[in-house]
Amino acid sequence: MEKNQFSNRLTGWYDTHKRDLPWRHTTNPYPIWLSEVILQQTRVDQGLEYYKKFLNAYPTVSDLAQADEQEVLRLWQGLGYYSRARNLHKTAQIIEKNYNSIFPDSYSELLKLKGVGSYTAGAIASFAYNERVPIVDGNVFRVLSRIFGVFTDIASSPAQKEFREIAQEILPDKDPATHNQAIMEFGALQCTPKNPDCETCPFQEQCYAFAHGKQGELPVKKKKVKVRDRYFNYLVLEQNGKLLMQKREKKDIWEGLYDFPLIETKTPLEGLESLMAHDDFPKELIKNHLAFKDVSKTYKHILSHQRIWATFWTISFEGNWESAGDFLSKKESEQVPKPILIDNFLGELN
Ligand code: ADE
Repeated sequence: MEKNQFSNRLTGWYDTHKRDLPWRHTTNPYPIWLSEVILQQTRVDQGLEYYKKFLNAYPTVSDLAQADEQEVLRLWQGLGYYSRARNLHKTAQIIEKNYNSIFPDSYSELLKLKGVGSYTAGAIASFAYNERVPIVDGNVFRVLSRIFGVFTDIASSPAQKEFREIAQEILPDKDPATHNQAIMEFGALQCTPKNPDCETCPFQEQCYAFAHGKQGELPVKKKKVKVRDRYFNYLVLEQNGKLLMQKREKKDIWEGLYDFPLIETKTPLEGLESLMAHDDFPKELIKNHLAFKDVSKTYKHILSHQRIWATFWTISFEGNWESAGDFLSKKESEQVPKPILIDNFLGELN
């Protein structure tokens, strides 16, 4: 199938089926960038809310650059993968400082920005400047692998290059931006991961996967990530109705977010005695009229490479204890950025 014919059929489908999404009504690179970073993290329906929240709070890239990192993380709360939010903020600062708040105007210049990879640079160059560059996301991998019968493992290193070449080849000279929106939308709505709608598909005749019944096998994604179990024993220290919260500083998950003093163990703890006997339990605290109040259920929290099993031990104490962190009232604890796990726990406290 000739490239313009492919693209015409695709954009014809798009004309009829596309969703009306706000970032499709602009060629301003800032909201386009914002939407793409958010959409790398979540689905369109949830992403929409975050997109509106961010644009509302930070209408321009300078507003975002000047924001407090805590506030950015707070707005990002619930999307996970918080280093994305930190990078978003840092990149905005670079654009403000080094580029006079004006986005670079080509794919190759965008790619030079720290924290902007080929996907994001491609999306901005394509949607904001209509540059003829391919963009390859999960949707595009799926559509191309099925139609053209490409069995390369999409998690392998050669896959990027191979799929980018195919995507580039089918890009029309005229209006590549619409073509790129269309192929992503086609993957999201028609050529879906499960139960693709092959009956009404405009590519049914050309599609390798349809002809060979391989929709379930394509795209090939082999790498199975190893999932690690971690056991988090949180000390929820209470004094005068306030809870001690700390900002996570270590290079670990949730850097910059708030949680409680933490004792991490390799296996679940047996009970209060083993908690208090643990080397990391603050021995000074024991001197302070400590009263054990409650132990929570075990919360299971799934991340891409880790399973967190968290238990919260609520302990009140009197007197002083020198420790990192601050005692926060209920209201204050609501304001700080937190992992969803902590938010859920606090939400269930009465
Ligand atoms: N997912 C990633 N980018 C998207 C876009 N521009 N529109 C819809 N879904 C997307």
